[in-house]
Amino acid sequence: MQTVVGIDLGTQSLKVLFYDFSNRQVVACESAELDLYQNDEGAAEQQAHWWLNALHEALGKVDPAIRRSAVAAGVSGQQHGFVPLSRTGEVLAPVKLWCDTSTVAECDEIMEAYGGPQRCLEEVGNLVVPGYTASKVRWFSKESEGLYEQMDCILLPHDYLNFYLTGERCMEAGDASGTGFLDIRGRKWSADMLAAIDPDHDLAGCLPELRLEPGVIGTIRPEVAQRTGLPEGIPVSTGGGDNMMGAIGTGNASRGKITMSLGTSGTVYAHSDQPIIDPRGEIAAFCSSTGGWLPLMCTMNCTVTTELMRGMLKADIREFESAVSGSPRGAEGIITIPFFNGERTPNLPRAKACIVGLDSHNARPENLLRSALEGATFALRYGVERLGELGIEASEILLTGGGVGSSTWRQAVADICNAPVTVLDQNEGASFGAALQALSVLDPGAEDDLQDLADRHLSRNELLCCEPKKSSVNFYNDTYRDYQSAVGAITPLYT
Ligand code: XUL
Repeated sequence: MQTVVGIDLGTQSLKVLFYDFSNRQVVACESAELDLYQNDEGAAEQQAHWWLNALHEALGKVDPAIRRSAVAAGVSGQQHGFVPLSRTGEVLAPVKLWCDTSTVAECDEIMEAYGGPQRCLEEVGNLVVPGYTASKVRWFSKESEGLYEQMDCILLPHDYLNFYLTGERCMEAGDASGTGFLDIRGRKWSADMLAAIDPDHDLAGCLPELRLEPGVIGTIRPEVAQRTGLPEGIPVSTGGGDNMMGAIGTGNASRGKITMSLGTSGTVYAHSDQPIIDPRGEIAAFCSSTGGWLPLMCTMNCTVTTELMRGMLKADIREFESAVSGSPRGAEGIITIPFFNGERTPNLPRAKACIVGLDSHNARPENLLRSALEGATFALRYGVERLGELGIEASEILLTGGGVGSSTWRQAVADICNAPVTVLDQNEGASFGAALQALSVLDPGAEDDLQDLADRHLSRNELLCCEPKKSSVNFYNDTYRDYQSAVGAITPLYT
């Protein structure tokens, strides 16, 4: 047996997936949990060595014979995290993650130095919003001057795992576009944006090689092979951000489909052959990891919302499903605005979650749980609509991420977004996408047509696919308007 291994470094866990590509079978899928440090100022951080420990732990759960069967590896990772490396490869600080909102002031300072939000959109393609790497670099320069001086290289989370596996320091265009300092049209670093982040330091000198196309970045180092049981010398592909790998893993590498990921973050994205710049800056203008672009909307509170509510109400996964299916659509008038960790879309980094519409009749756990799921989905409907306004219509939604496990949630997505929902048998979008990218480097030429490769390895799970129900669609159109009015009403509290 020969397998390709996809590694997905998430926020809550790291996953490894071994795919026997000849028999089209996932033969192992294991994970290890990750801690997350958060504080009241919006910090959200992890130590890079936690990721390595989790990688070893997850791989350690896989049968050694399966580990030995790997012939290539690919890495997917949470986007945007800032990993500053010293010349000798030590990580100089805890990694501020995509969901860290403590750098609002630095975002404003950078955009002002650059010439304002309009110029950011016109020349780089993206605004500098909390979460993206750019403001974290500036924050680090102010907070840890001595360490900042030692910074030799900036990597993103998946690049750091690539560095550990192969010893190579590089970035690729998809994940790099989430830094905020990549000119996404030209697929090159923006010297002016780097100067706006720090006019006194040559940040370009801290940027690794930028890979524009998928390919091999190196091979598994002997020490890593010894430590992990993966074969020494097997190729590691460029990898990419989890959304870029999710696009490959859901077969979304050509125009006409929308992927929605119900993970810690919620994302909605589509492939495009051209850069798509949102004049409002709400849809991120990212590059894909397949040579194109990946317009994307991200919310910071998706399964965060359902998990927090589930924890508060002490419901396990089975109780959650029976509660949400037992509560009527609309949760008897309760609306959860899910901004537990602040929010990126809408851009309200200091916002908090709010529950509106409670009364003495509807205040029951099942309604609260259902409203959590619906609120997280309303937030994503906004992205589906905004993509539509930018010319990307949803004829179907490819659903991925942890939320796919809930049948009520799948149907709610179809009804709230008024689109058929497709679920794949291979529903580990990001890790499967990373495995497919790894497979592509074994077959010269296949990197050029990842859509074709994905089509050959993905299949629909007909039992889990669902269609929108007309009466629910009409009902949710009204409820969505109520949700948006509620968001409008709380906005002044947090701006
Ligand atoms: C996308 C984003 C998140 C992270 C989560 O812009 O910030 O989806 O990639 O892992």
